[in-house]
Amino acid sequence: MRKTIAEIHELKRQGKKISMLTAYDYTSAKMLESAGIPLILVGDSLGQVILGYDSTIPVTMEQMIHHTQAVVRGTSRSMVVSDMPFLSYHTDNGQAIENAGRLLQEGGAQAVKLEGGGSKIASIVSKLTECGIPVMGHIGLLPQSINLVSGSKVRGKTAHEAASLVTDALDLEASGAFALVLELIPHPLARLITESVRIPTIGIGSGTGCGGQIQVLNDFLGFNLDFIPKHAKPYLNLNELIKDAIQRYIVDVESGDFPTTDQTLSMNESLLDGIIRKRISHSVVRGVDGA
Ligand code: KIV
Repeated sequence: MRKTIAEIHELKRQGKKISMLTAYDYTSAKMLESAGIPLILVGDSLGQVILGYDSTIPVTMEQMIHHTQAVVRGTSRSMVVSDMPFLSYHTDNGQAIENAGRLLQEGGAQAVKLEGGGSKIASIVSKLTECGIPVMGHIGLLPQSINLVSGSKVRGKTAHEAASLVTDALDLEASGAFALVLELIPHPLARLITESVRIPTIGIGSGTGCGGQIQVLNDFLGFNLDFIPKHAKPYLNLNELIKDAIQRYIVDVESGDFPTTDQTLSMNESLLDGIIRKRISHSVVRGVDGA
């Protein structure tokens, strides 16, 4: 049985912090679940860390469905939330319902996440929840709007921005969002938002005042050669571990130390004698013919 929204809300009620990580494939999703992660996000950050794009903007619905299916196949207890990619929910409510529906029906996710606040996004969230599609909101830095951002990526530093983020959070909650990601929001404001809403907030770069935390799996594992954001805390240095393993492999292959008998299949070699004899006599005959 997968984690339910009621159970996620219960964690907030009991004052327990919620851990969330991203995953994009079967094996890591299985690993996350076996370690006890209640919430997994199939983030459109897969555009950068899996597909090598320089932003989340090129990510398509088909790619989100493909990766969501893999994560869902690797889990049976964690709640899987799938990101709605760039422009998959902006045209009208019909487009948003259809695409969110695909992430649930074809992808197998239990909920979707979409970025932004304001009345238009709030209306999409209420349409989706009316259709039975759970929505996680996402405010603060919005990676899908990165082309509009100039200067600091931290949101809410001015009184006006701070007030509008609090309003966005309240509106998203009123529209039916079951949780909110707060990305790169200064700690005191993130805490104020968290205290202002009943639903859990999940922070990334937004301090300890949030109801939970999320990290991008590759940043968390130190498995990212391009860029580890300042707010990420790598719990491993997988880059180094993997590089070291590959270098030892190359040395073993070149020296003949791999494979050993442990990785080698044996057989009754006398069975080969007949084949070897036949090949020798065949090549002798061919040699004579060719002469
Ligand atoms: O796509 C993603 O990984 C996200 C997290 C940064 C919250 O949206």
